[in-house]
Amino acid sequence: MRTILVANRKGGCGKTTIATTIAAALAARGQSVALADADRQKSALKWIDLRPKDAAQITGLNWTKTKDLGDVRSQIDTVVIDGPGALTGAHAEMLIAEATEIVVPVLPSIFDTASTDRFLAKIEKLKKIRKGKAEIHIVANRIRLKSLALARLESHLADTGRPLIARISDRIAYSNLACEGLAIFDSPCRETAPLRNQWQPLLLALEG
Ligand SMILES: Nc1ncnc2c1ncn2[C@@H]1O[C@H](COP(=O)(O)OP(=O)(O)OP(=O)(O)O)[C@@H](O)[C@H]1O
Ligand SMILES: [Mg+2]
Repeated sequence: MRTILVANRKGGCGKTTIATTIAAALAARGQSVALADADRQKSALKWIDLRPKDAAQITGLNWTKTKDLGDVRSQIDTVVIDGPGALTGAHAEMLIAEATEIVVPVLPSIFDTASTDRFLAKIEKLKKIRKGKAEIHIVANRIRLKSLALARLESHLADTGRPLIARISDRIAYSNLACEGLAIFDSPCRETAPLRNQWQPLLLALEG
């Protein structure tokens, strides 16, 4: 079983959007997927509640309390964890212990970059990461292609030796679909095809 933790201590960087979209993408590929909500706001579980009955099935798990963590049915192929705002303490340690992959969304803003640097420096020190037992994937979210902000983020990450695996555009489709418990990989239409393409490098890395 693969366990993908979507985390960054920076609020509003797109953790829930990225966790729900990955879950929908893998479910659309026929995987048996669970979405574990580890954030007290329980946004991912709200998204599951809104999900139409005929959409690809995603099992919701409430992992907001440390005692419920790790509770997964054996037939699940992948668990996607929507991480909490602050990844600290015993709860965080257990979430990281569960993870085989860590996806870190970052907004192309100087304030988010500095905070993400500190977050990455912290998780890179973890034994599990140092030993290569969980891989970190950095995703630029809410970007404008060819913008100066994206170029700055790319150059900053290159300087710190941290590659960017995917660039996700700022599009209203994400919030519109989320209101219906859906994501761009559910009943794909032609207009969202370029958006789906942006996720392919990340999905490939997660499945690799
Ligand atoms: N690529 C995107 N394009 C447009 N809007 C986006 C995108 N990603 C996220 N958003 C919007 O940004 C807001 C914050 O996103 P989201 O809730 O996923 O972040 P979060 O990190 O989970 O926040 P929190 O820290 O509150 O849990 C939401 O309104 C969401 O719809
Ligand atoms: Mg969230």
